[in-house]
Amino acid sequence: MNMHHRKKITSTQIKARDEQPGPKHFEREVPWWKNSIVYQVYPRSFLDTNGDGTGDLKGITAKADYLYDLGVKTLWISPFFTSPMADFGYDISNFVDVDPIFGSLADFDELLKTMHSKDIKVVLDIVPNHSSDEHEWFQRSLRREEPYADYYVWADPKGFNDSGNPIPPNNWLSKFRGSAWEWREERGQFYYHQYHRKQPDLNFRNHRVQEEIKNVFKFWLDRGADGFRVDGLKHIFEVEDLNLDEPVDEEAGVEDNLHYNYLKHPFTMNQPETFELVRDWRKIMDTYQDKLLMAQAYSNDIQDVMKYYGNDTDPLADFPFNFCLVEKVQNRSDVTGTRLKKIIDEWFDNLPKGKWPNWVLGSHDYSRVASRLGADLVDALNMLTLLLPGTPVTYYGEEIGMQDADISWEDTKDPRARNFGPDHYREQSRDPRRAPMQWDATANAGFSRGPSTWLPVNDNYKTLNVKAQSEARVSHLKVYMTLARLRQERSFAKGKLAFPVVTDEVLAFIRYLEDEPKYLVVLNLSENDVVVDLHHHANLKLPPDASVITRSVSDKSEENSPGSKVNLSALMLVRGEGLVLQLPFAEEIE
Ligand code: BGC
Repeated sequence: MNMHHRKKITSTQIKARDEQPGPKHFEREVPWWKNSIVYQVYPRSFLDTNGDGTGDLKGITAKADYLYDLGVKTLWISPFFTSPMADFGYDISNFVDVDPIFGSLADFDELLKTMHSKDIKVVLDIVPNHSSDEHEWFQRSLRREEPYADYYVWADPKGFNDSGNPIPPNNWLSKFRGSAWEWREERGQFYYHQYHRKQPDLNFRNHRVQEEIKNVFKFWLDRGADGFRVDGLKHIFEVEDLNLDEPVDEEAGVEDNLHYNYLKHPFTMNQPETFELVRDWRKIMDTYQDKLLMAQAYSNDIQDVMKYYGNDTDPLADFPFNFCLVEKVQNRSDVTGTRLKKIIDEWFDNLPKGKWPNWVLGSHDYSRVASRLGADLVDALNMLTLLLPGTPVTYYGEEIGMQDADISWEDTKDPRARNFGPDHYREQSRDPRRAPMQWDATANAGFSRGPSTWLPVNDNYKTLNVKAQSEARVSHLKVYMTLARLRQERSFAKGKLAFPVVTDEVLAFIRYLEDEPKYLVVLNLSENDVVVDLHHHANLKLPPDASVITRSVSDKSEENSPGSKVNLSALMLVRGEGLVLQLPFAEEIE
């Protein structure tokens, strides 16, 4: 956009959004998940009610009021199914039961009832790509018992080396480091594991396997689940020809030839058969009412990601997670207005017609926002993801600006980190972001009454916790709650979007709708305090002043305090600050 030419905002500036203002109560007809925040709970780390140091389902239920007050309408819970916990629940040995460490099916029913009574939907994490090697299917497959013999991806060795050891059929690598093939003497064959060796890949070329997983979907839907997040979706199929080696990724510059990124992955990712499978799942979900299907299928090629949406006539997932703000914004110097705008545009520009955007800032797999990008940016980035059109996904604790915990090699649990050894585990470990939720300043941050916790609590819990932030006059939590409330307003839920100012330092956007309040969100993404002239230097007409609705906690100035009128010709923002302003009502934008 040209900074010197002003123009009126027109609705064509908002691309790829189907729902322009419609009948008066149109938003009621919008599927619930469009206006909802999706809040991800990692159940081991949310609240432990029985003192064993690991969180449980009762703990999540106990926090229903917290979620309600937060303004969260969709709760996504990472796996709580029966599991030997080699990958902390992502290695499932019974897809249709609750692991005793988390509770029981009755606890799940209670959780669902409680959440539903508060109008909170519950979305489960389904892990179809693999099971645990302790799953009965695998045990029987190992013994070649029918009909399980081909439930997994088994392959003969390519040959035997000089010492008589079997050679894997190809060079494919596990995402957790090393060969993706594991030899089993009992069968005289290798099995394939995209992730940990205790997570053998299911063979989706076998129709019985497809049926088994469909039954898992049905089991939880019948029990009342409101939808699913599908784990590792892009890896479900591999090419049929297991003799094909994957090519080395020369551009990646990875030296460790056991590191997953050493290779490119044309034969183990996004195979065309995947989409047929998702189509079937969609059909199942649509026989129930109003269910949500979120796909974890991110890859660097945005076209590949978008395929998981399907299209108008062939709907697949409701959305594939948009990890662009994580993958393309890896450290503080990546956080510029120009870059964020490019990332946002890219998603809108590629979004299939009629599909809905989503914004993700973190998960159990990525470093926390405050640690990855900077504690000063916590509020500004929550403003961005909660106030852009689309569904935001918040990882537990991000609403209070939790930071990665410092976890020693001795305390490290993440199997991926352990595979890299004591010298390199820190670069790989996902434990720091999985540390217990910080509820208050009591022992174990109020997470557990037990003597110890499965991962250490972050040392900063005495000052950084939910209780302190609910009692404080200003806090990340309070900003988050204000944003959650604001985004329910029609201007955000249904409104249009335009960007009056985009520079490296500043990103400003407007959300507006006829006859509704108009909002201007200004983010100072730089590491310096700035003064911006939005009145004269915007590329569309902005009024001389506006009033402050909320701001980052780091700004303590009198001028920008909520309720004050600020001068848009000389707006002051401290480093990393976000400001949400309301424009004078009469102001013409369109
Ligand atoms: C999950 C990881 C998990 C892996 C294996 C990923 O998609 O997000 O946490 O380790 O799948 O199930």
